[in-house]
Amino acid sequence: MFSRDFAWGASTSAYQIEGGWQADGKGPSIWDTFCHEKGRVFEDQNGDVACDSYNLWEKDLECVQQLGLTHYRLSLSWARLLPDGTTQHVNERGVQYYNKVINDLLACGVSPMVTLYHFDLPQTLQDQGGWKSPGIALLFDNYAKFCFQTFGDRVKLWLTINEPNVCAKLGYEDGIHAPGLKEEGTSAYVVGHNMLRAHAMAWHSYNSLYRAKQKGAVSLTIYSDWLDPLDPGCSEDIGAAERALAFSLGWFAWPVFVSGDYPEIMRSAIDAESKRLGYSSASRLPCFSKDDPVILGTADFFALNYYTSRKVKPGGGCKQTLSMRSDKDSEEVLDSSWPICGVSWQAVVPHGLRNLLKYIKDTFSNPAVYITENGFSQVGPLHIEDVERCEFYKSTISEVDKAIQEDGVDVRGYFVWSLMDNFEWADGFGVRFGLFHVDFSDVALSRTIYQSGKEYAKIISKHKSCK
Ligand code: BGC
Repeated sequence: MFSRDFAWGASTSAYQIEGGWQADGKGPSIWDTFCHEKGRVFEDQNGDVACDSYNLWEKDLECVQQLGLTHYRLSLSWARLLPDGTTQHVNERGVQYYNKVINDLLACGVSPMVTLYHFDLPQTLQDQGGWKSPGIALLFDNYAKFCFQTFGDRVKLWLTINEPNVCAKLGYEDGIHAPGLKEEGTSAYVVGHNMLRAHAMAWHSYNSLYRAKQKGAVSLTIYSDWLDPLDPGCSEDIGAAERALAFSLGWFAWPVFVSGDYPEIMRSAIDAESKRLGYSSASRLPCFSKDDPVILGTADFFALNYYTSRKVKPGGGCKQTLSMRSDKDSEEVLDSSWPICGVSWQAVVPHGLRNLLKYIKDTFSNPAVYITENGFSQVGPLHIEDVERCEFYKSTISEVDKAIQEDGVDVRGYFVWSLMDNFEWADGFGVRFGLFHVDFSDVALSRTIYQSGKEYAKIISKHKSCK
């Protein structure tokens, strides 16, 4: 049984749904630039229009209400609010848009959870070095303060950066997300470092300037798979799984929740690989200095995005070039008993979420946890009667229940990714995660509830009526 104030939510992000990429004074973001380059995204699609939530917000609100959500997680587009990324120039039309969204939600009894940054850096800031430049932390802090000041009287749950681990790796190591850089084994660590500094500055600003009056909570969202040793009796596999967890969850959770610094296992793996390849003696993983904000303790709750699980074995290294993959020296594989849903990376493993929640409780001193994303992808032919996805939500929510009741994890909320089908980054519109289907071939971009949407609404209503 879930508590009275358990948050039942669904999530979206600005670039994936809003469209209006040039509307009313919005500045370009790195995703606008990236999608407009040929060959970056599936069929050269882009988020210029996406679900057109900038114009069709009322339709989204109807979906939120139809599901009976208690919470809705959205992100703000930095470049819609501050077109050049700085507070020198505020786009009032952007402020009006988000004010309307927030006010409409509250008028319907739905609490907003707001992410400040979900992958879409203003292009102007990218041109000045973006997340690789240390100065970005101060710019982010200014943006965060602007948002707390403008919306914080009504928004009580804040997330600074969505999945810094994914953002840094896909954008700067693999080059498959904006800004599309493939600078293996180096830049992702620098970007991650600046994201942590930026996050911590924003948390401290909230803490000292806004918390007393606004009484909200601030965290950052971390993506992680559940990672088990391939052979639980094999010490090499156990070591590989520990490294893999350190490089995914630990990279950001360790500094914030445990020690103010990166997991030792991560630094020693990176430094050993540098030595092996004769790279300079300075660690590729930056060090925090006394001038940096204090990182430890800068989260009021743990925000987790969970999608799938993996079994881990040693990577079998000895590559001749630097990469995060060689640093980590682990290989993550699927268990053949796990069904795959839509995208090839996503095995359906609801019990992995329970394991991960238990791990978080034990490793990070039993924090309050919000599962800020969890979902099931669909590709190929459209199935509005998405029976497998219905089963997926039922069994995942039952695993969350067990984590709370049997393992004593302090889970405060569960958010489905996503409210509706949307622009799935490099996969464009080819991958659907919605509780509502959006017909992108229809000029009206009509929203139709999936069977799984109805199922989720039923689950929510059942738990609400038990209060
Ligand atoms: C991201 C979402 C994305 C989802 C599904 C998460 O990593 O935060 O933006 O759409 O995964 O891939």
